[in-house]
Amino acid sequence: MGAQQSGSLIDDLSALEIEGLGAVESAGTPEALEAVRVAFLGRKDGKVSGILRRLGELSAEERPPVGAAANRVRDRLQSALDAREQALRGDAEAPPILDDLTLPARHRWIGGRHPITQAIDEIVSIFRSLGFTLARGPEAETEWYNFEALNTPLDHPAADAQDTFYLKDGHLLRSHTSPVQVRVLERHAPPVRILAPGMVYRRDSYDATHTPAFAQIEGLAVDEGLSFVDLKATLGEFARRYWGPGTRVRFRPSFFPFTEPSAEVDVKRVLRNPKGDTVETPWIEIMGAGMVDPAVLEALKIDSERYTGFAFGMGPGRIALLRHGVPDLRLFYENDVRFLSQFARP
Ligand code: PHE
Repeated sequence: MGAQQSGSLIDDLSALEIEGLGAVESAGTPEALEAVRVAFLGRKDGKVSGILRRLGELSAEERPPVGAAANRVRDRLQSALDAREQALRGDAEAPPILDDLTLPARHRWIGGRHPITQAIDEIVSIFRSLGFTLARGPEAETEWYNFEALNTPLDHPAADAQDTFYLKDGHLLRSHTSPVQVRVLERHAPPVRILAPGMVYRRDSYDATHTPAFAQIEGLAVDEGLSFVDLKATLGEFARRYWGPGTRVRFRPSFFPFTEPSAEVDVKRVLRNPKGDTVETPWIEIMGAGMVDPAVLEALKIDSERYTGFAFGMGPGRIALLRHGVPDLRLFYENDVRFLSQFARP
C-alpha cells in the first residue's frame, strides 16, 4: 500500500466527519441520536471504527497520521454527540413555550387594602390619637363571654336578636366584639381605653345592609369620673375627623343589656356641592353605644361606685358604605376585583 492509500483514507475520514456531524445535528430524538452513534462510532459496524480497523493495511510510516486523523474525527463526533444529547434532554425538561412571545408583558398586580380594611385602619388611627389602644379577642367564644358576662341571660330576648352559629364543642362564633370588653377588664384594672376590631357572625339574611359575617369595632373606656358627656364628645370628635368638620351626630335612646343608658348613634354629613349649596345626607345609623352597665363592672369585681365607663360598637362596613356612596354592602364581600380596585390606594 502506498501514500495514495493513506491519503484516500484521510479523505474518507474528512467526508465521514462532515457526514457524521450533519447526522448528529439532524437527530431529533435521543433514539435517533443513539442510531447515529452506532452508525459512526459503533465498535463493530461503525464507519469510523471500520477505518481504524483498516490501519493494519498501512505501512508503519503511513499509520500514525491516519490513526491521528481517525482519533480526531472520533473525538469530534463524540463531543458533537454529547452536546446534542444534552440539548435534546434540555428540550424535554424545559416546559414548552405556549405564550405568544411577541405580546407585551403582563403588568404586575399590585395589591391594595380592602375598602373595609382601609376604614378600620383609619378609625383605629383616629381613636389611637384619642388615647385608645388596640385589643383583640377570639372569634370562637363561649356563651359566657358573648352573652352572660355582658349581662345577657341566655333566655333574654337580646340573646335571640344575636342568634349565631354554634360549634360542635359548645363554642359559638361571637355575635359582636363586646366580649373583648370582658376579656380586657378581667386582666387589666382601670383606667382602660381600648379599641377592638374583628369579625363577628350572626344568623342574618344576606341583603343590601346585612351579611352573616361582618366586621365590627368595639370601643371601651373605663375610668374614674367618665360620664355620658365623655361618650358624646368622643364619638362626635371621631365623626368629625372621619367624615369632615360639618358632620352632625345624633343619639337616640336604645337598649343593650350591657349598657345603661344606651343609644343608637346616627350621623348626617353636611356637604357643599360645587355651586356652594349645602347638601345634607339623611341620618344614618352607624353604631350602638352607652354607659357600661354597673352590673357588668361588678361581675368583674370592679367597684362601680368608683369607676364608670362607656362603650360603643360600630360596623366599619356600613361606615365605608357611607363614605364611598356604595349602595349595597354585599359588593364589599363578593371579591369582584373590578369593584374593589376602585378603592386601591397606591
Ligand atoms: N355589641 C352591640 C351590637 O353588636 C353594639 C354595642 C357595643 C352597643 C357597645 C353598646 C356598646 O349590637
